Amino acid sequence: MFGPILGTSIPKRAAEKGLVSYHLTHFRDFAADAHKSVDDKPFGGGPGMVMMCQTVYDAVEAAEKQDPRPATRILLSPQGRLFDQNLAEELSRHERLLLIAGHYEGFDERIIDGLSPMQVSIGDYVLSGGELAAMIVVDAVVRLLPGALGAPTGAADESFANGLLEYAQYTRPRVFREMSVPEVLLGGNHQLIADWRFIQRQDRTQKRRPDLWQAYVQRTGSELRS
Ligand code: 6GU
Repeated sequence: MFGPILGTSIPKRAAEKGLVSYHLTHFRDFAADAHKSVDDKPFGGGPGMVMMCQTVYDAVEAAEKQDPRPATRILLSPQGRLFDQNLAEELSRHERLLLIAGHYEGFDERIIDGLSPMQVSIGDYVLSGGELAAMIVVDAVVRLLPGALGAPTGAADESFANGLLEYAQYTRPRVFREMSVPEVLLGGNHQLIADWRFIQRQDRTQKRRPDLWQAYVQRTGSELRS
């Protein structure tokens, strides 16, 4: 699953520029039995399968030995800390991340107790596995690495920068099906454009994401606009 994502777009270009490298480890390669089992039925009964301790411990320890730099262990789980732009920025400052993704009902709790990973969830919904979540974390983190985006300020005014959503964007043509680009953007007055965009960001954050707006108002002390 990872190849097409890490081999496309920003994640690919960042690797080509030497800003990051990706290394995949397969749990199945660490299975101890003839059936290559990585999961088993839960003690106490119930649905689904549970990732076994031995394969996960062995895979994590083998992966960590590939590189002398200590890895920050991250286990993808719907029970984890909610992933957001702040966490992406924090993780982008770590030298090495080890993402642990299972494709099963869950992990044996002793994996969490013994490996003490940071647990991360990408949202309040259930996926069939942690792989997609891991790729989302990788994408969001890698594009923050210095040099990963074209412009040096590429990530500075997009959504969630300063806790606000991004302003509305337009490109050619100036009129499409009788819908015009706002006049201010065509005038070339950079101060007026910056002001308009800032108002836009506040307006849409207030309307669409009252949770983000509340946090923004508390943090900046800016007046509620109505
Ligand atoms: Cl990290 N894993 C799974 N299986 N479901 C999720 C998730 C992770 N984050 C949100 N839902």
